[in-house]
Amino acid sequence: MKKRKLIYQIYPTAIGSLRDIAEKIPLIAKLQPDYIWLSPIFLSPWVDGGYDVQDYCKIDPRFGNMSDFKNLVSVAKKHNIGILLDLVINHTSSEHMWFKKSERHDPWYKDYYVWVDKPLNWNSFFGGPAFDYNENRGKYYLHLFDRTQPDLNFSNPRVVHEFRQIIKFWTDHGAAGFRVDSANVLAEDALKSGVLPRIAGFFNYYQTKETVAILEKLLSSEKIFTIAEPIGGEFTTKSRFHELTNKAFDASFNVGTVDVADTFLSIKDRFYPIKYRKWFRYLAKWTQEDKLSLALESHDMPRSPSRFKSDPKTLAMLQFLLPCKFPCIYQGQELGTKNAKLSDNIDDYPGVQSRMMYRRLRKEGRTKRQAMRQVKISSRDNARQPMDWSEYLLQEGDDKSVLHFYRNIIDLWKNDPVLIHGDIKVKKTSRKGVFEFYRTYKKESYFIHLDLKGHTKSYCKNSKGEIIIANR
Ligand code: GLC
Repeated sequence: MKKRKLIYQIYPTAIGSLRDIAEKIPLIAKLQPDYIWLSPIFLSPWVDGGYDVQDYCKIDPRFGNMSDFKNLVSVAKKHNIGILLDLVINHTSSEHMWFKKSERHDPWYKDYYVWVDKPLNWNSFFGGPAFDYNENRGKYYLHLFDRTQPDLNFSNPRVVHEFRQIIKFWTDHGAAGFRVDSANVLAEDALKSGVLPRIAGFFNYYQTKETVAILEKLLSSEKIFTIAEPIGGEFTTKSRFHELTNKAFDASFNVGTVDVADTFLSIKDRFYPIKYRKWFRYLAKWTQEDKLSLALESHDMPRSPSRFKSDPKTLAMLQFLLPCKFPCIYQGQELGTKNAKLSDNIDDYPGVQSRMMYRRLRKEGRTKRQAMRQVKISSRDNARQPMDWSEYLLQEGDDKSVLHFYRNIIDLWKNDPVLIHGDIKVKKTSRKGVFEFYRTYKKESYFIHLDLKGHTKSYCKNSKGEIIIANR
């Protein structure tokens, strides 16, 4: 059942309340997604755009209430779409009742988080130390992200039980499954053994067999669809990707698939010139992974036409003509949306990542202007802007638009036997930015020529030389 699925991601504030989202379902359904993944809709102080959860079983008032959620589920169901919720499992908000009780030594909650007497030299993902001192508790706590996002202690069975209840709560209310946030950094074993990471930071702080087993127990169910988000690190080795994904999840992102093009070790506040050859080599290899979810965009990345300086139709071809079984598109991607025109003043940025990035760049000696230039290119806030529905209507009326192109290419991805079953063979070419490959199934072979730099037309043609799809 879970062999090939299209996922459509919504960052809810970009559309509005759950009622607003439900209203847009008939339009989104034209892209034929199997699932809509909603970034967090839970009660949150919103320090990290909802990824700092205060109560997993309450909907944030900005989105509505439980009956709005049920309405969304039923509207989506009418269009054969399941709703995936975002399970933020690595940490809570420091406003969560669990943390409030834990810092006060409540006997039941005292081991819900990772408390230590001596901090390690780790850096948090957003910059700055990953351990902070808590006056109330008189100890340090781990936070891989912001200091308001304390890490849960996943080796505590009580914490695991809490999530079992939360999962049940939402599936009882109609959720079809979950995207699991930061799914590869739950293990706290390195702490227990007192081992310091090889480098300051947590890039080698990977999932262990024990936590994979916990996740497997928690999430493996025929009834729900689960997709993992591994963060940080360099996902270049198969074994790491496999250990997490093949055991516990139906599918998984691999940030390396796009980061290998222009980022080093996932430090997304710096983009290097695109290394096309390396990128294409990894894409050809990785997209054959059975459970890989290929995404060119998300709420954490800048818009792909701006990031890769490519035409959106060619990027759509890259995503849907490769053998990927779980492609994920991010709201607005189907319009070819570019990076937003962001402010020159860092105080106007809502995202904690943008502000931390700015601080780090300034600390490293960049001038205000240099730091802001970098923030504007790589800020997550680029992709978190309101969806442009007037642009949507314009493109709806133009059958040459990016929107129509997405609908067509998804139709091919869903129905064309060569794209469903065909293997991939890369053709060598020395032209920069050009990716050529064959997809072959039975007696048919498609030849695909993609020009990411736009010097030539991108196309896919069959063995008779007929064009199946082209960007112009
Ligand atoms: C994930 C989310 C990101 C968030 C982080 C911490 O990487 O995608 O938006 O900041 O986890 O929860």
